Amino acid sequence: MGYNPDVARIVLGVCGSVAAYRACEVARELIHRGHEVHVVMTPHATRLIAPATFAALTGNPVTVDVFDEAQPGQITHIRLAQDADLILIAPATAHTIARLALGLADDMLTTLALATRAPILVAPAMNPAMWTHPATQAHVQMLQARGVEFIDPTYGVMACGDEGWGKIADTPTMIEVVERRLKRTQELAGIHVLVTAGPTYEPIDPVRFIGNRSSGKMGYAVAQAAAERGAEVTLISGPTALDPPAGVKCIRVQTAEQMLQAVQEHFEACDVFISVAAVADYRPERVYPLKRKRSQRAWTLRLVPNPDILGTVAPRKGHRLVVGFAAETGKAIEYAREKLQRKGLDLIAVNDVLEPQSGFEVDTTRLTLLYADGSVEPLPLLPKRIAAHRLMDAVVERLHILAGKSGVPDRSHLPDSFKSP
Ligand code: PMT
Repeated sequence: MGYNPDVARIVLGVCGSVAAYRACEVARELIHRGHEVHVVMTPHATRLIAPATFAALTGNPVTVDVFDEAQPGQITHIRLAQDADLILIAPATAHTIARLALGLADDMLTTLALATRAPILVAPAMNPAMWTHPATQAHVQMLQARGVEFIDPTYGVMACGDEGWGKIADTPTMIEVVERRLKRTQELAGIHVLVTAGPTYEPIDPVRFIGNRSSGKMGYAVAQAAAERGAEVTLISGPTALDPPAGVKCIRVQTAEQMLQAVQEHFEACDVFISVAAVADYRPERVYPLKRKRSQRAWTLRLVPNPDILGTVAPRKGHRLVVGFAAETGKAIEYAREKLQRKGLDLIAVNDVLEPQSGFEVDTTRLTLLYADGSVEPLPLLPKRIAAHRLMDAVVERLHILAGKSGVPDRSHLPDSFKSP
């Protein structure tokens, strides 16, 4: 692999904002930390800072024009896109954020962003009215859903005199986020993570089903977080309206029985199983082959229990790390602890789905992590994509503990980072 997060190749994208001068500080600090920095400027940015400044700071040519080939015979945007370990766009204007969201490629920076598979970090800087505008926020959400990470702007007085959210994050924060992201990128390389997500639909007849309110957002965020850390991820998804995260193998199923079958097929090959799906606990005993006609008479539907997917595979966990979720109402922690013990899990993430803004359908959740050793880690209310990363932090830590335990079954298949020192 040869990747070293301590010495990474970083593309620094600079847009036409007054905060462009801060990119000089960022470039200098990244170089000071041993990274290789290649600056790509939008044409507007060159009206605020001369490319020669960045060339002098980084020791590398600065690229602005798509047709400006520093080395004849090489296509610069493809080479930079393929070679980069990370792209940091700082400052990012509302216009560039919109172009990134729409997948436009009308200058070197946006073309490169479209051609790369490296993680992209964006540090916006703009007038508060522009930052809070629904159009900008919609573009931010589109990019976040595709795995782009935002280094949120701070509150302050702008160059134009307006006060509000829109000031570029400070340099130490940007450097910290870059280095954290670089470390994360390969943290789970060589690990296979199996995730279930979404609801299951249990058919009654060709048009009706029993389902639940799971949107799949939490499970997809977990799959994305694992993929962003370099894991090979298989996502087994019930019916959702979501696109699978980039780089994740997605298997779509409808019913609990289909989900069980898919999980059993992929469980052997996984190192970590995370069961986020809201599996229907019951299904109709009988599925009507034709649409059942309406009548004035009462209709009794007999339900039979579905298999417990997690409960079926967890006893065969062997060396694997098995993580459950619990959607609870009432005594959430107590009920979840009982599930953790009964199903023999390493960790369970419980959410009280009666709390507004947590649980089903919404974009945020408040998870409490309960560990097999009895420890408890309450997390604050967080966007699901951040909560998913906090869960992955716990998974990485548990993998290290598992790998270090004496008497653990053969760990030789795991990457070196998970073996005992
Ligand atoms: O999809 P979203 O809209 O983002 O909502 C997220 C969520 C609320 C679905 C998620 O955060 C969550 O709590 N998922 C677990 C839902 C659930 O089924 O909880 P449970 O307490 O009923 O089940 C406990 C565990 O057993 C879960 O890991 C579940 O995947 C698993 N299970 C449950 C029933 C069953 N028949 N088979 C199972 O494997």
